[in-house]
Amino acid sequence: MNTQSTYMNWAKTRPKVKYDLALSGILNLPFAELGAKIEDLDLCGDNAYGYRPLVDMLATHCGVASESVVTISGGTSMANHLAMAAVLEHGDEVLIEEPTYEPILALAEYFGARVKRFPRLFEHGFRVDVDELEKQITMRTRLIVVTNLHNPSSVQIHEGTLRKIGALAREVGARVLVDEVYLEAMFEAAPRSAVHLGPEFITTSSLTKGYGLSGLRCGWILATADVARQMRLLHDIFGAVGPQPSERLSVVALAKLPKFIARAKRILESNRAVLTEFLASREELQVVRTDSGTTSFPRLLKGRVEDLYTVLHEKYDTGIVPGRFFESPQHFRVGMCAEPELFNEGVKRLGAALDDLRG
Ligand SMILES: Cc1ncc(COP(=O)(O)O)c(C=O)c1O
Repeated sequence: MNTQSTYMNWAKTRPKVKYDLALSGILNLPFAELGAKIEDLDLCGDNAYGYRPLVDMLATHCGVASESVVTISGGTSMANHLAMAAVLEHGDEVLIEEPTYEPILALAEYFGARVKRFPRLFEHGFRVDVDELEKQITMRTRLIVVTNLHNPSSVQIHEGTLRKIGALAREVGARVLVDEVYLEAMFEAAPRSAVHLGPEFITTSSLTKGYGLSGLRCGWILATADVARQMRLLHDIFGAVGPQPSERLSVVALAKLPKFIARAKRILESNRAVLTEFLASREELQVVRTDSGTTSFPRLLKGRVEDLYTVLHEKYDTGIVPGRFFESPQHFRVGMCAEPELFNEGVKRLGAALDDLRG
């Protein structure tokens, strides 16, 4: 087996650029701004099945009982891993949205799932078409996977649609995994987690995207108390216990979340305004507009995105994510997460590169 994530490998090895429009998580918070004191830290502690203060704070943050929270280091990535490991067996049928965040696809393949796809079409505003999804479901379907907000487009799946997906899953005894990492970037406007919609729902998330706290790798899964317990026991053979320093710093961070939310909002609001105006001014680009999320996924109507990427990088020191990583080669992803002055200049450079391509 040679499973790998082409996207993740690219993301980790891509050349550094000054104007980075490829980021999907809010600009990293400088450690000093976390305001942690040495007394906040320890190397070890009582965290056999989760560090209690962290579990309880996340339960409050997500509006669920502590029994439903599984904390996991390794962010949403490891949360997705553990969630799939707990509910999938080799050969199970898994339905995954298309396009999606590529490591999710690689993960299902790694678990030996038989992966089927259902479309989220640009032409349909990247919505989940429940009728199309229903056509793919069989008695062998064990899991349906969506991202909400959608990566790459940031389109939200509303509760009515999630409920329909849940009902379809229930009919065949399947579960629904909702990767909710980008709901954290909606702050107080975020809808409640899909875990509230029924026992078939499992959700994953982390502090990564919304607050500049990726380095903490603080991830979690929400599920029914039974499923959560099963996941904690399964995790015994993966990671034993979590890293205490990071768990304790995550507690510090959760207590100060409003401060980091204010910072993230300043960045996102400024960058979204710049990007919205820019996209409206370019006739060679079409986009499904959203009012929330950290990314946008325009379609280039003429020319090749790979050429745009190369010109941006080589001539303009600017980065985007080519749509080929999202099975959409005519699109590219712009993240609104960079420092606003740099973002502003990056968008100007994106315009210049598009002009070059037209010329
Ligand atoms: C949909 C989705 N899930 C999970 C992740 C990984 O998140 P984390 O850094 O918390 O592991 C990402 C990162 O881009 C993502 O877009």
